[in-house]
Amino acid sequence: MRTARLAPSILSADFSRLGADVAMLESAGADCIHVDVMDGRFVPNLTFGAKVIETVRRCTALPLDVHLMVVEPERYFDDFVAAGATGLTIHVEAAPHLHRQLARIRELGALAGVAVNPATPLSTVDDVLEQLDLLLVMSVNPGFGGQQFIERSIAKVALARRRLDEAGSRAALEVDGGINRTTIGECWRAGADTFVAGAAVFGAPDPRAELAALRAQCAIHA
Ligand code: DX5
Ligand code: ZN
Repeated sequence: MRTARLAPSILSADFSRLGADVAMLESAGADCIHVDVMDGRFVPNLTFGAKVIETVRRCTALPLDVHLMVVEPERYFDDFVAAGATGLTIHVEAAPHLHRQLARIRELGALAGVAVNPATPLSTVDDVLEQLDLLLVMSVNPGFGGQQFIERSIAKVALARRRLDEAGSRAALEVDGGINRTTIGECWRAGADTFVAGAAVFGAPDPRAELAALRAQCAIHA
C-alpha cells in the first residue's frame, strides 16, 4: 500500500508571515516542507539560504526537503544541514561529481536526493540509484513557481519508477512543478509518491482544503 507524501513549497508563501504559513501547512497535514534554494546562476532567480532554513526549522517539526537549484551545491552542504535541513537534493546538471556529492550528504546525516531537469535523460542517474534517498523528476524548468506542468514528465516518472524498482531502491520518487488537482493523479498513477506544490496550495482560497484535495486525488487514482 503506497502513501502519497505532500511537500508544499514555501516559495509561494507570504514571507511577511512565514512562520504562520509553515505552522498552517503542518496542521493541515503536510508531510514535509519543500524549501527552494536558488542562486541566480543555475536558475535565473534568487531565493534564500541558511538563515531561512534555520527560521523554518524553528517553526515546525516536519522534515525539511531542501531543493538546491545552485551551481557548486557542495559549498552549502555543511551550513544547510547545520541549519536543520533533513534532506538535500542536488541537480545532476550541476553535479559533475555526483557520486561523491551524494556520499557527502549522507555522511552529514541528511537524506541524499538528486533532481533531473525536463530535458535531462534519466540515464544520467542510473549509476547512483543505490545512493539515493530521493529522486526528483522536475515537471517544469526550475526557477519559478506557478509554471505549467510539462506532460512528458508523466512518462519520465513511470520510467523512473521502473528503474528504482529494478534497482531494488526504496528512494522516494518526487515530482516538482505545476502540481495541482488536475496533474497530481496522473503522476501518482505513474509511480510518484512525493509531490511538491507551491502555487496550487498558496494560490487556493483555502490552502488547508487544497492539501486535502490533492491527497484525495491520489486516492481516486489508486
Ligand atoms: C520550481 C521549484 C518548485 C516550485 C513549484 O523551480 O523547484 O519547487 O516551488 O512551484 P509550483 O507548484 O507553483 O509549480
Ligand atoms: Zn523545488
